[in-house]
Amino acid sequence: MTIDAKARLLLTFMCDYSRDCLEKICIILAMSNTKRRFRTRRRSLFPSLLGKGAGGDGVKSKHNQFKIRPGGALRGEVTVPGDKSISHRAVMLAAIARGRSEIRNWLAAGDTEATLGAIRDLGATIERHDATTLSIEGGGLRQSASPLNLMNAGTGLRLLAGIMAGQDFPSVLDGSAQLRRRPMKRITDPLKLMGADIESKDGGCPLHIHPAALKGIRYEMPIASAQVKSAILLAGLYGDSPTTVIQPGPARDHTERMLRALGADISEDGVDGNMITVAPIEALAPLDLTVPGDASSAAFLLVAGLVTPDSDLVIKGVNLNPTRTGLLDVLDEMGAEISLSNLDEQAGEPIGDVRVQTSALKGIEIGGETVVRMIDEFPILMVAALRAEGETLVRDARELRVKETDRIAVMAAELRALGADIEERDDGFRIMGPQHLIGGQVDGHDDHRIAMSLTVAGLSAAEGAIVTDAACAGDSFPGFAETLINCGANMIAT
Ligand code: S3P
Repeated sequence: MTIDAKARLLLTFMCDYSRDCLEKICIILAMSNTKRRFRTRRRSLFPSLLGKGAGGDGVKSKHNQFKIRPGGALRGEVTVPGDKSISHRAVMLAAIARGRSEIRNWLAAGDTEATLGAIRDLGATIERHDATTLSIEGGGLRQSASPLNLMNAGTGLRLLAGIMAGQDFPSVLDGSAQLRRRPMKRITDPLKLMGADIESKDGGCPLHIHPAALKGIRYEMPIASAQVKSAILLAGLYGDSPTTVIQPGPARDHTERMLRALGADISEDGVDGNMITVAPIEALAPLDLTVPGDASSAAFLLVAGLVTPDSDLVIKGVNLNPTRTGLLDVLDEMGAEISLSNLDEQAGEPIGDVRVQTSALKGIEIGGETVVRMIDEFPILMVAALRAEGETLVRDARELRVKETDRIAVMAAELRALGADIEERDDGFRIMGPQHLIGGQVDGHDDHRIAMSLTVAGLSAAEGAIVTDAACAGDSFPGFAETLINCGANMIAT
């Protein structure tokens, strides 16, 4: 182990140790004071002593269990950590750009740290000013001495595969047991059409990628996936001629926006700009960006505010890219009291503050392009749908079955354990509401969005909930529990 690695390990241990101590002190204070005083202390201790706002301190939480009681109204102003999709892309693009990139409000979470580790293994020089502020000197990637471990990060592995396909050295891309179960043929098929030399294990990872000359292709994607689109576009930078992808729906377009900002020749054509062409490029310019707040993390706070009585929350600086705002549109149609203010632009993305108030909701039908624009938000939508009057019907969402978990089956099973009645469908689900959850113990299944959705469900369950296997919340939202507690939620993380 290098001195640098030892120092990082020691720092990690110290941060975790002091965080644990502080939270134990908070809990002891809570038990020896009135509830009112406890809340005052929690509000002041968490932000000042843990001190890093919603982004946490960049160290994955050791808290693996959330205990939630209903009734704590959620109020005040909060921020959410930087966008996960943009954070993955930022460090990868910085690694292949020529020169020094500056990245602020980067998401220091389980998934993105895995990607950062991979580009470090590939020779990028990373200067970490603090957990969320990085300078990266790119341009000179070299072969990694060991397989690149992307842990649970599907975005990290699939996008990096596109970049690795175009390098003149071999690489092995691998991840956790969970990531090994996820389909990779969706990227290896088009990359092989470009001439990439990739071996995969039973259609999954590890992927063994050997150097090969890439050619430009025109590819009609069978599914609307930003990971597939991005892997092809990134490989396209190394082709011998332009590459065109045609997507069947509006998958998130962060790769396109960022490549354009770094000088790539990238254009959108066809119906709704669904045909994207990128030309090969000698070298990308370095980045200088502040990552906007993650709309998918904000989604948990939004639904928590909607279903918890007397809530009035403002989530500041949220990414409002139209390829990510399907949930806002759906909640608006369901009757949610949500308003936007301070609309602005940051890192080439629209941003704004989102205010949410407790609302009466009604069920609606969701399918088609809206599904693509909120693909990560269905677990938390289920929680909102349980509170809505009438039928909520989701179709065209089969992709949910190949996320970190089968999110239709897992959410339906866990919400049933809290007392819900949910009809699973092959490509979605049907929920008749309003339903009143009783409560109980549920499991996060090492899937961040499942663990956080179940936590929010617990806020409206009559007897509350215990969510186990909840540390995975830190894969995308470090400080999730602290953020909810600071807003007034009755919960503790142990
Ligand atoms: C992502 C794309 C989506 C999404 C994932 C992040 C990205 O996956 O579910 O959380 O950053 O490109 P798919 O491309 O598989 O739909």
